[in-house]
Amino acid sequence: MRPWYKYSIDADVRGKKFVGLDEQYHEHAAGMGGYDTDEAYNSKSEFFNNYFFGYHLGRLQCYDEFIRRHLNKEDKILSTASGRSANELYLMEEGAYNITCSDLDMSDEMYRATVNLFPQFKFYRLNILQSPAPYTYSAILNLSMIYLPDDARLRTFFQHVSQSLESGGKLILDSAGSPDNYLSYLIHDCLLKYEVCLLRAKKLFTTGKLEGIVIKHHDFRRTDGEIIAMANEFGLKLQDKSDYAFLVEFKRSYFLNKIISASRAAENIFTTMGKYIPYIRMFCFYKT
Ligand SMILES: C[S@@+](CC[C@H](N)C(=O)[O-])C[C@H]1O[C@@H](n2cnc3c(N)ncnc32)[C@H](O)[C@@H]1O
Repeated sequence: MRPWYKYSIDADVRGKKFVGLDEQYHEHAAGMGGYDTDEAYNSKSEFFNNYFFGYHLGRLQCYDEFIRRHLNKEDKILSTASGRSANELYLMEEGAYNITCSDLDMSDEMYRATVNLFPQFKFYRLNILQSPAPYTYSAILNLSMIYLPDDARLRTFFQHVSQSLESGGKLILDSAGSPDNYLSYLIHDCLLKYEVCLLRAKKLFTTGKLEGIVIKHHDFRRTDGEIIAMANEFGLKLQDKSDYAFLVEFKRSYFLNKIISASRAAENIFTTMGKYIPYIRMFCFYKT
């Protein structure tokens, strides 16, 4: 496990500012750009066009491809940390999957807007690090959450998920971040760390204003082996795994992004290298 920091410049900050991990629901919501309701809630097609197709560089469509390969419509499914629940709503709407969503919280406004558009939407509050689900399920989804807990809390997560699954039940999990290896270290702990200083100097040169640097403890990076070994401790065995999103980590860099966008050849080269640092790693575990 390696802590993962994100670096940015901010006109309202002087010098350096360190920001800790998100803990509260409103901090997670802010990290997702706010869980507000907007005109996308006017119709189902607007909702999916806004929050599913192409959202976050196609992240949710990668999830959807893997989930459909492993879940059955007969499954009784719980989604933990479902956030806006766009994946789950798409599966319910287009595939008639039986899914109950859950998260730390959900505003009354978002709940009402979601049910208004999707009357079959089911939701309850669940802190999966605090307790198992109140019922057992034949499948559990967890998309883009396990980057948050440290190792002790990730063990608690697997324990609670295992307790919430029927025997033979499945956990569909997304790593929510690239593996901890030399290439991800080079990008996150070297390139992006120093690139932000160059961007700050560039801004000073063009605007005459010296902005501060924000260092955010975003979360943790783990190898496949670390995730699989921890799941095994709680009777969850790996059945399948697929990697997606090979350019995301490179595209965090202002300079690499420009190179990747410049030519098809560059994009192909970075896509090949990106197989070592997939942003999305989907795991399917089954409970023994
Ligand atoms: C990055 S968002 C992912 C939301 C959604 N699954 C997606 O893929 O777009 C992380 C979500 O995890 C939720 N979360 C964080 N800690 C949690 C916990 N201990 N139990 C349940 N949900 C949690 C946050 O409230 C947030 O909605």
